[in-house]
Amino acid sequence: MNSSRHQEPDKSRLQELELENRLLKTIIDHIHEGVYAINGRGEIIIYNHEVEKTEGMHRQDVLGRLESEVYTHISGPGFSEVVSQAVMKTGQPLIDLLFQAELPNGRKEEIIISTYPFFDQGKLAAVYSVGRDLNTTGEFIAKTLEIKQRMLSRQGMDGAWSGARYFLENIIYKSDKMKAAVTQARKIAAQDIPVMLVGETGTGKELFAQGIHNASVFVKGPFVPINCAAIPDTLMESLLFGTERGAFTGAVEAPGLFEQAEGGTIFLDEINSMPLALQAKMLRVLQEKFVRRIGSKVQRPVSCRIISATNVDPYQAMQEKTIRPDLYYRLATVTLNVPPLRDRPEDIAPICEMLINRYSKNYGLFVDHVSPDVIGLFEKYDWPGNVRELQNILENSMSQVEIGARELKVRHLPVFFLDRIQGSRGKTLVRDMDGSSLNAILQDVEKSAIEAALANNKGNISKCAQELGIKRQALHYKLNKYGIKGGK
Ligand SMILES: Nc1ncnc2c1ncn2[C@@H]1O[C@H](COP(=O)(O)OP(=O)(O)OP(=O)(O)O)[C@@H](O)[C@H]1O
Ligand SMILES: [Mg+2]
Repeated sequence: MNSSRHQEPDKSRLQELELENRLLKTIIDHIHEGVYAINGRGEIIIYNHEVEKTEGMHRQDVLGRLESEVYTHISGPGFSEVVSQAVMKTGQPLIDLLFQAELPNGRKEEIIISTYPFFDQGKLAAVYSVGRDLNTTGEFIAKTLEIKQRMLSRQGMDGAWSGARYFLENIIYKSDKMKAAVTQARKIAAQDIPVMLVGETGTGKELFAQGIHNASVFVKGPFVPINCAAIPDTLMESLLFGTERGAFTGAVEAPGLFEQAEGGTIFLDEINSMPLALQAKMLRVLQEKFVRRIGSKVQRPVSCRIISATNVDPYQAMQEKTIRPDLYYRLATVTLNVPPLRDRPEDIAPICEMLINRYSKNYGLFVDHVSPDVIGLFEKYDWPGNVRELQNILENSMSQVEIGARELKVRHLPVFFLDRIQGSRGKTLVRDMDGSSLNAILQDVEKSAIEAALANNKGNISKCAQELGIKRQALHYKLNKYGIKGGK
């Protein structure tokens, strides 16, 4: 009894230590420097994600092995003799040594490494190195300078932020359709004409609006967005045009968004949600190029660029009387159509790659690509929510990925998405697919799910069936059907 009472605090302390240990390892994986360490016997005990990336080796292949065995491929005097052994022998750190290394993939790297001794109770217990490769460091510096330059170019006269983070260069695409849209956006940016962006929800209209602003002469001014669908009708007018003190009960003196956008861009998002009465007032502002604050007689010139957007077809909106035709023709001197994702499946793979990298970093994962099966599925789906929906699916899938996995597989996709694919089957079929290829994809999905479940359950069929939520007999049938072996 006594002994168990004694053990309790030890156990919780042990858990705490273990937690700290895992936390430290996670932190080490998130820094830009490569970090690795060997113990007194010369075995590698820490090998972080950055080292994995630069050296092209996986930690599971090097941890616990002798450094001198692992690094035989590095040309010139072996790394382990020169650096670690020297530090081991002398107990003195070696700072900022420049190394030329030829890596297993044939790449040549210049690496700067500092190596330090680690003492435990006066005895040298380990040697650890912190290094960075010169290429990455160069890129890092270039990126920092570029960000700094962008920040400067985006600051308004008074140093305020313009609010436009995206540049046309940030739009990722491979398709000719998107290429045409970006080229058109560049041309539009160079001229001061009102432009209307038309595209389904989540296609990237805001991205284009910001990109056009940042590529235009208005870049020094602010980017002022207003989402007409999100602002109550009663507030929209005073928000847009501003108010004079006492114009109505409680009215204070306040500039409107048109004034705030002076020298910059005003972005009227979801213009089809603007009340018709206000649309008439907007038209007058655009024709006269003056605004008056509510309750004021003073006219102020409008000196900003106007970009608007709608996620419904403007002709349909005019028919349904949600956009006044006279306002439409004023705002849409040029129309830029942002095509839906389903019409440009070539863009899916590069967008996935960018998002996977982003989420991997955010969540401390190592996924660096999406399996061809997943891309195949994505390319056949019709994406009613476009890129925003793709973001959502990928972010969801990442929570299913095992630590250390490099590939996002079909089995990581959320079940609700697989259901959605089945649901969209009818529509997809009509457009561009024959039923047999969709069936093949769904069978692939089923096959990979079964293989994954088998692997998870070490081939145990009962457990596997339980995980999949199907009967044993059904699983046997499917194993036969797909010729999957390895079930017990
Ligand atoms: N080609 C692209 N490359 C990179 N990111 C993209 C691309 N297209 C869209 N995105 C991203 O997808 C998300 C949705 O885009 P955005 O907000 O611009 O869509 P939207 O057309 O304005 O949608 P809504 O009509 O719903 O307002 C954003 O996070 C945006 O950064
Ligand atoms: Mg938007």
